[in-house]
Amino acid sequence: MTSVVNSPVASFLESGSKQLWIDGAWRPAADGAVIESINPSTGEVLCSFAAGGAADVDAAVAAARRAFEGPWSRFTPVQRQNVLLAFADLVDEHADELTHLDVLDMGAPIGRPVSSFTPAEVLRYYAGWATKIHGETISNSVSPDIFTYTRREPVGVVGSIIPWNGPLGSAIFKIAPVLATGCTMVLKPAEDASLSSVRLMELFAELNVPAGVVNLVTGVGSAAGAALVEHPGVDKVAFTGSTAVGQQIVRAAAGNLKRLSLELGGKSPDIVFADADLERAVPGAGMGVFANTGQVCCAGTRIFVERPIYEEFVEGLAHFADSLKVGNSLDAQTQIGPIVSQRQLNRVSGYVTSGLEEGARAVTGGRRIETDGLASGYFLRPAVFADVKDEMRIAREEIFGPVASVMPFDTVEEALARSNATTYGLGGGVWTNDLGRAHRVAHGLRTGVVWVNGYGYFDPAVPFGGHKQSGWGSELSVHSLEEYLNTKAVWVTT
Ligand code: NAI
Ligand code: MG
Repeated sequence: MTSVVNSPVASFLESGSKQLWIDGAWRPAADGAVIESINPSTGEVLCSFAAGGAADVDAAVAAARRAFEGPWSRFTPVQRQNVLLAFADLVDEHADELTHLDVLDMGAPIGRPVSSFTPAEVLRYYAGWATKIHGETISNSVSPDIFTYTRREPVGVVGSIIPWNGPLGSAIFKIAPVLATGCTMVLKPAEDASLSSVRLMELFAELNVPAGVVNLVTGVGSAAGAALVEHPGVDKVAFTGSTAVGQQIVRAAAGNLKRLSLELGGKSPDIVFADADLERAVPGAGMGVFANTGQVCCAGTRIFVERPIYEEFVEGLAHFADSLKVGNSLDAQTQIGPIVSQRQLNRVSGYVTSGLEEGARAVTGGRRIETDGLASGYFLRPAVFADVKDEMRIAREEIFGPVASVMPFDTVEEALARSNATTYGLGGGVWTNDLGRAHRVAHGLRTGVVWVNGYGYFDPAVPFGGHKQSGWGSELSVHSLEEYLNTKAVWVTT
């Protein structure tokens, strides 16, 4: 059995198979099916949870609809604000326990928080918005006796589907705008990391919120996920995950023209100029690709380096990669945890093989670790490939693992053109001490976010989202609220 140091987590794991949270009550999947949750540091089973299907999604959507049209619709903005604040307090109180569940379930290192802000801060940020959603009065030219105004109304029942790479944060990013705007929701977490979402619902259940406002249906994507995106009772889908599934969701949503927000994959460029401060750029770009074991949608996986410093940078990055402590996610010293599952380990290892076969220079890493008690987990040494060509698979496809591709360039125009020569458009980085060039590159990159001289910062107030095939719409910030609101114009003849 996995050694669990956090006692509330131990009791949670030992308290039996986790159920679905539908209409304010816990229940097993209609057909009784369950999935086992695996600790990727050890390969051991943590506990099991319900594998919901179409019947469960039906029940959850019906409950969300009743809540949307019923008691929840009469909650005032201040009441919704207070729900968010009370939830934030509970999430804060149980922060260690919630984090610990992700540490065990998907392997995020316990000593390395994924983000600089806490989940409760996101809830509090949106609590503030609940009272600041308003329409406008408009002077029309039809008649002085007609008064026009707009209302911002919640879109309705939201189906929210999240991935496994940052389970707790992803769930909060989806729940917060739903509660702020007055929507209701069915949350479907990833089958590889559902436990923190279950625990979040246990906390949510302590609040005085009508049944059905938030429902949880755990289960596999092809069953619970597909049923949710196809359901005619769902008004909007908020999805974070792979571009391939995002495309399926766009097709499935056509049936009732659901509104969609999509936060999808990436192959983000990180451009290092010769004048950059390498003391910062090497570890910065390094963590830009290796943080969370490379399982980050905006990971800066294509590192373009100006030719005069290319070899020096490659050597520095390899040295940095070798210095990273890879280990069990429960070890406080661990900087890089395991890959989430055997399936993902195979997938990432397949990309390492393809890099070798296509002739990239393997500088370091890329091998599975089978020593130090890590053999039963899914550990890979962070890999650096140099002399990667733009057309190689490792330079084009999202790997979602600790694999960096480093490539030399000669001019700004070339760096921009090659950075943009991808179907993705999520993140981008530039390292330079030339202010004008930093702005030029920031504006020239066709991506939803650009970091200058520092990679991977997030904040609840700053929008995050992709261009091109990296997605539609934004998460976080006031812009995310737009995704959950409809505008209505009202004409009043006086
Ligand atoms: P995925 O996109 O299949 O899974 C994400 C979520 O979508 C999960 O909750 C899953 O159950 C659900 N899902 C899957 N199929 C669905 C369907 N037909 N309808 C509705 N929901 C569905 O990602 P997966 O398979 O876990 O990872 C595979 C690859 O996807 C990774 O290697 C990575 O390249 C990419 N990925 C990208 C993420 C990102 O944030 N950019 C997050 C997760 C995966
Ligand atoms: Mg797991």
